[in-house]
Amino acid sequence: MLTPAELLAANPVVTAPMAGLTDRPFRELVHDMGAGLVYTEMVSDMALCYGNRKTFGILNIAGEAAPVAVQLCGSDPEPMARAARIIAELAGECGNVALLDINMGCPAPKIVKNGEGSRLMTQPELAARIVDAVASAVSLPVSVKMRLGWDDEHQNVLDLAARVVDAGAQMITIHGRTRQQFYAGQADWTLIAEAAARLPVPVVGNGDITTVDIAAARMRESGCAGVMVGRGMLGDPWLIRDMVRHFAGLPSLPPPGRAEILAMALRHLRRQVELSGEYMAVRMMRAHLPFYIKGLRGSAAVRGRLNHLDTAAGVEQELTAFLSGGETAAYQDAPEI
Ligand SMILES: Cc1cc2nc3c(=O)[nH]c(=O)nc-3n(C[C@H](O)[C@H](O)[C@H](O)COP(=O)(O)O)c2cc1C
Repeated sequence: MLTPAELLAANPVVTAPMAGLTDRPFRELVHDMGAGLVYTEMVSDMALCYGNRKTFGILNIAGEAAPVAVQLCGSDPEPMARAARIIAELAGECGNVALLDINMGCPAPKIVKNGEGSRLMTQPELAARIVDAVASAVSLPVSVKMRLGWDDEHQNVLDLAARVVDAGAQMITIHGRTRQQFYAGQADWTLIAEAAARLPVPVVGNGDITTVDIAAARMRESGCAGVMVGRGMLGDPWLIRDMVRHFAGLPSLPPPGRAEILAMALRHLRRQVELSGEYMAVRMMRAHLPFYIKGLRGSAAVRGRLNHLDTAAGVEQELTAFLSGGETAAYQDAPEI
């Protein structure tokens, strides 16, 4: 397996970890769109150590195309190292894991209250001990995903990143917001660029990449080795395709038409049914399908109906009626009004 630096040099487009969204079916779509590195959802160290079935379900990477980044969340070096060994064992069997990432960015109250995610940014020594414990426990490359800091007054990303690199991290991803901001406001890439200039390991910038032009400008201006895309790729895996083509110097392709969007949404739904069963799949797809039809005239009503359908056939029918060729005037592409 290539090192993180080699992977990013070959292809700088990284897809973000997103709990509840970047599961196996979604990862397969963005991988097929050419993503250079694809993150799992975060998994909890304790849940892995206790053999939680749902958590092992999240780690459904057997047979998945490489390279995959597995993200681990926790607050205590010892269980983090134990969980890392479990992941390393799985990685050994699957042969597709490029790195083990440690979550130091999640702002969710239930995570932060356990001392995990972005709370670790307020405890740099502990954060470094966790990275040291994990990097010593496994031979997989270890990386850390963090934010700018806890709040505006405590933007310690440069210090924390340097410490975790000293402790063994081989790549740093920075989301240009503080914990206090959650997902509000604009991501600020100033400190991301500074980190990229200062750190001896590759830095991946993250935050508000929604178009190829923005991705290209951020790469150019920040000097980052890669860019990570989160919300922008929901319902729009073609953004990944377009970014990959841009960075590879290939000509751009036309945006997807309704038939292509329909085919992608149906592929996503069917794969979800295959892996999660119809009951769960239909409900899980409620988080994704609105993004596929976002911005199309009449989509609000369709979204409402999709939320009440509980069979895959019903969902397919609704999507097909809305997106297939013989649409009525009300279904023609137009901004939502
Ligand atoms: C629904 C949702 C779930 C997320 N789950 C995770 C996660 O499990 N681990 C993580 O490090 N970041 C998580 N994030 C943060 C994203 O990885 C990313 O840093 C953030 O969305 C900013 O990038 P964007 O502007 O491209 O969306 C999540 C974000 C969202 C919106």
